[in-house]
Amino acid sequence: MFRKTLGKSGIAALAAVSVLSIAACSGGGGGGGEGDLISVGFSQLGAESGWRTANTESVKASLTEENGIELTFVDAQQKQENQIKALRDFIAQDVDVIAFSPVIETGWDEVLQEIKDAEIPVVLVDRTVETTVEDPYVTWIGADFRLEGEMAGKWVKENHPDAKIFELQGTLGSGAQVDREEGFDAVVGADAIIGKATGNFTRAEGKTAVEAALQAYPDMTMIFAHNDDMGLGAIEAIEAAGKVPGKDIIIVTVDAVRDGLQALKDGKFNFVVECNPVFGDQIVDLIKKVHAGEEVAKETIVVDATFDQSITQETIDARLY
Ligand code: AHR
Repeated sequence: MFRKTLGKSGIAALAAVSVLSIAACSGGGGGGGEGDLISVGFSQLGAESGWRTANTESVKASLTEENGIELTFVDAQQKQENQIKALRDFIAQDVDVIAFSPVIETGWDEVLQEIKDAEIPVVLVDRTVETTVEDPYVTWIGADFRLEGEMAGKWVKENHPDAKIFELQGTLGSGAQVDREEGFDAVVGADAIIGKATGNFTRAEGKTAVEAALQAYPDMTMIFAHNDDMGLGAIEAIEAAGKVPGKDIIIVTVDAVRDGLQALKDGKFNFVVECNPVFGDQIVDLIKKVHAGEEVAKETIVVDATFDQSITQETIDARLY
């Protein structure tokens, strides 16, 4: 089983393997571009959150003709079958490079093998895959989701060691959900978590999940939401139940989109771990290197910060997303 997270020691060795496979690829697949443009099929998983919107804007702003890219962008609306269809369309178009952000980790074996057979290099973006296909992508760029969960857990341990936590999970089976949960749970300990449910990374489903949780777990004192949007939905549910978010129920989230940071400044969120979506320029660099058969790192980690209620309005206003 090829597991997405390689660990630092595995990166160099696998990068070398990748370079060989890129070299093998560069003579075969591709040819769909016009002139000197590199044709790229990009399958975005959806538009479920403020983070995703910012990520899509960054991709579209960077993967432009001025930057040497002919982009075909397809939004899968959070459905894996839509993504698989888009990937097959990219194969049929014989694009030079495929980039995609997989909605969940598993279920890609067949289509990844088809892409490999077509000798089209893959740049994996944001989320990760778990597959039996050997060397399924050339390079991956995204955040360290496990570390994000650990950073959230560390703040909870230090500031609210006796919290009774409800965990509001992202899309089940996605790299962002699996790894944030593993990281957070490992730090706070299983006993601190009194319940879990998914809000599918959306504000509406986050609200619904918290409405149910408030009934099911009346002793809850904290919510750890795997993204800001679900945390914002949680605020609505908590206020509707006559409680005060940020006081009666502490809220910890991930992403640090502007709305999330505003909620932090307003005292309704208590701690936010960043997940930076603005890395379109880095994707372009990787695509160009991959297309040229140059050596690339197997993993590029986008670095994240953390924020507490001491955040200033200036910092929020200066955010790009
Ligand atoms: O994969 C990144 C996650 O996906 C973001 O944290 C979340 O907001 C988005 O839906």
